[in-house]
Amino acid sequence: MKFLRFLTLMIIPFALLSCNKDKNNPGYDYMGVRDMYYTKYYKAYSPNLIFRDSLTNQMPVTGAVARGHMPFPYPGATITDRVINQTLAGVQLVNPLAGDTGTIAEGKRLYTIFCVDCHGDQGKGDGYLYTSGLFPAKPRSLVETFITSKPDGELYYVITMGSISGLMGPHGSQIAPEKRWKIINYIRSLSN
Ligand code: HEC
Repeated sequence: MKFLRFLTLMIIPFALLSCNKDKNNPGYDYMGVRDMYYTKYYKAYSPNLIFRDSLTNQMPVTGAVARGHMPFPYPGATITDRVINQTLAGVQLVNPLAGDTGTIAEGKRLYTIFCVDCHGDQGKGDGYLYTSGLFPAKPRSLVETFITSKPDGELYYVITMGSISGLMGPHGSQIAPEKRWKIINYIRSLSN
């Protein structure tokens, strides 16, 4: 009994000592190399003598691809560019997503946000913006052979860069690559 009480009395001060109010303090360091305990770090906007331009936040290297993005080497500055590159994209870009119920359902959700106002809920080119006269150009029906016979890559090009004539604007900056493919899967499901 006496020994047990002695033990408890010994443990209490140890337990209390091990508590430290400063949560960022790693406690005692036993190794000689203090750098292992106290890492030198720079904040994003602090000056930095290691780099030639003395900035800590460095630009990404040329050619770096942002997470979730795909390079899109199909420029469309002029109409000739677009004619060539839309066809090229149709040949080279392959839809990475299967047209299963999951991607189609998500595609429908996105279509309802970005396309339905012009192309209509069945994709017939009769959306409210057109039928109400607010948008003057007739949107293309997405369920006719002109579209169903085109490869997915061409639709991907149109969503990204807009239509060749420019009557439909580009959506590349609003819709992430994977979402464009989902919309395409939904459009395909409308004509199946
Ligand atoms: C502001 C109205 C508008 C919106 C929004 C819109 N479109 Fe269009 N779209 C058009 C018009 C107008 C055309 C016909 C343009 C032309 O013939 O040049 C067209 C044409 C197309 C074509 C055929 C292009 C071709 O090769 O002739 C496709 C495919 C298409 N749209 C898909 C979409 C998809 C997918 C969305 C949503 C991400 C969308 N559009 C959003 C107006 C719109």
